Amino acid sequence: MIKVPLLDLKPQYGSLKQEILRVLEEICDSQLFILGPRVEAFEQEAAAYCGAAYAIGVSSGTDAILASLMAIGVGPGDAVLTTPYTFFATAGCIARLGAIPLFADIDPETYNLSPEAARQAALHPPEGLAKARIKAILPVHLFGQCADMDPLIVLGHELGAPVIEDACQAIGAEYPGAQGVRRAGSMGAAGCFSFFPSKNLGGFGDGGLVTTQDAALAARLKALRNHGSEVRYYHSMVGGNFRLDALQAAVLSVKLPHLESWHARRRSHAAYYDQAFEGSPIQTPAAVYKKLAANYHIYNQYVIRVPNRDAVRKYLQKEGIGCEVYYPVPLHLQECFRSLGYQKGDFPESERAAEQTLALPVYPDLTETQREIVAQAVLAAVTQS
Ligand SMILES: Cc1ncc(COP(=O)(O)O)c(C=O)c1O
Repeated sequence: MIKVPLLDLKPQYGSLKQEILRVLEEICDSQLFILGPRVEAFEQEAAAYCGAAYAIGVSSGTDAILASLMAIGVGPGDAVLTTPYTFFATAGCIARLGAIPLFADIDPETYNLSPEAARQAALHPPEGLAKARIKAILPVHLFGQCADMDPLIVLGHELGAPVIEDACQAIGAEYPGAQGVRRAGSMGAAGCFSFFPSKNLGGFGDGGLVTTQDAALAARLKALRNHGSEVRYYHSMVGGNFRLDALQAAVLSVKLPHLESWHARRRSHAAYYDQAFEGSPIQTPAAVYKKLAANYHIYNQYVIRVPNRDAVRKYLQKEGIGCEVYYPVPLHLQECFRSLGYQKGDFPESERAAEQTLALPVYPDLTETQREIVAQAVLAAVTQS
């Protein structure tokens, strides 16, 4: 039996090992670990790559979201409009600021926040949330495909609420909208990125980034990541320690020039799976911007939908094929948000997605043989489960 892991980062490390160890050694020799020239260099490279005027390196994707919400003044009693079908951090950061996640359902085709559902939630919030002011809209570019930004930005203007992009899974993903093709993190008031090792651009630990086109917001974010301090030991606001390590920045700078080719390789795996699953009961991921943008999808995850998901998953696990459920419990049904008063049935598309979706191996170094093995196993699983 040939096993195929969901993710294997060792070949990528092997190909960059000399270069990475050299820059890490330079930093160790300098003993300068906090912020400094390595972080500044990476910030400039990342801003240029994302099409943003400014980029601020932070300690994780979670802290990127937290700092962005803090920077636009989200606080106790405010509401932030977002999706319940995402990683916990999206809504967790809202709650940590004393604000309330106001959920709206997803588009079942893309799994991203539905602009129509968002508008309805804003117009008709649940009873307990009627008085809360919507302070921001926080769409997620889930699995590596941008949310439908144009109507969300229009809604944000109408509500007087900036759009903060949770682009943690979508660095480089492009959105063909009214203003041409733009990259994740360059469209809203701020864009939040994660460099968790499993992301398309992954560090050697935790790391994150906030992008923005707004000089004043960039300055606030820079202060917030350093305890709200612009001049050492003088604090104009309360921030946190959200700094990106120089060691992480150096690793990310070595990896960034390869990112486009890694995205392309993921897309080629996706195209292979799409074709292999044609005519089967497997629903392949929609690529709604295909032909309209080069990075129409960066496939941080390749996620299929199957009605008998749990049986398929068990079969694949038995066959040694890595797979994962992102995410089994939509956020409105999480225990910690019970007090918000949401019920099962409130967001049927998110709930259905949580029951039916399964992510398959799609990392760049997956070989042709491995992806064939995965496709055959998935087809067998679907017919036999
Ligand atoms: C959609 C989304 N938001 C937020 C995060 C949080 O990022 P991090 O794990 O770097 O804190 C992640 C990644 O884990 C994510 O996928």
